[in-house]
Amino acid sequence: MNDFEEYLSHVLDDVKDSKVKEAMQYSLMAGGKRIRPRLLFATLKAYGMEETKGYRAAAAIEMIHTYSLIHDDLPAMDDDTLRRGQPTCHMKFGEAIAILAGDALLTHAFLLATSATDDAEVNSAITYVLSDYAGANGMVLGQMKDLEGESKADLTVDELKDIHFYKTGKLLTLPMLCASYIAHQQEDNDAWKKIGKEIGLSFQIQDDILDVTSTVEELGKNINSDVDNNKHTYVSVIGIDNAKKEAEMYYENAKETMHRLNLNPEALDEIFTMLVNRKN
Ligand code: IPE
Ligand code: IPE
Ligand code: MG
Ligand code: MG
Ligand code: MG
Repeated sequence: MNDFEEYLSHVLDDVKDSKVKEAMQYSLMAGGKRIRPRLLFATLKAYGMEETKGYRAAAAIEMIHTYSLIHDDLPAMDDDTLRRGQPTCHMKFGEAIAILAGDALLTHAFLLATSATDDAEVNSAITYVLSDYAGANGMVLGQMKDLEGESKADLTVDELKDIHFYKTGKLLTLPMLCASYIAHQQEDNDAWKKIGKEIGLSFQIQDDILDVTSTVEELGKNINSDVDNNKHTYVSVIGIDNAKKEAEMYYENAKETMHRLNLNPEALDEIFTMLVNRKN
């Protein structure tokens, strides 16, 4: 992971100097947990491959994720001032540059994806799945549903699950899909989609819980953001205790599905355990 951080810190070296580049670099290196890259590397390991084989794909995913956060924090969206323990991109650079930095991180991700590996077919599959899962059939659709949810008085658990699946589950499925393409194991992709959906739900349920139970210091972002934005969350819809149980259940399901695959589960088990117990 330390080597990947080093790689990521240089991934924008070829970009021309500008305020946009500064803002991209600022948000990308602001101290994210790198869950998505970790999942990609652990999946490669499970298939007996070196994590360096996934650096480009992991960087592409982390860039798309970082762009989604920059835009999610904008005044027109969640209007948050703190991210990864530091001022949000628009607080530091202004809204216009933050919008452009998001645009440019998203676009740059595809530059990396097209040359993610030495195999053109794998690169094409990775580029395709990144577009599909990030865009208007994926994370962006989830953000849209999340906005629409604000004005629904009686949002059901199933509707909330659907929002979480798209806004968070989609990007959290990408690491395993990219790794399986890199390892030429795409026959496992249906299982990874199921696993990604479950991890995504758990992860977002925990995010909903942490929004009301954590501290600004521990979380590195504003707390009570959801209440302030009239968001329906797992906490507001089913209560905190049930939300905790659901999060654990989905991780357990994901683990079970993963254990049925023909691979070495050790590295993924470790990440799942870390995720179940996460405090930020
Ligand atoms: C935050 O994602 C947004 C959600 C999908 C809940 P992370 O919790 O992975 O954020 P970073 O990358 O560590 O900042
Ligand atoms: C957003 O969910 C997930 C994205 C697609 C960016 P949240 O709005 O709850 O994420 P945080 O809490 O700001 O990280
Ligand atoms: Mg949001
Ligand atoms: Mg937010
Ligand atoms: Mg949140």
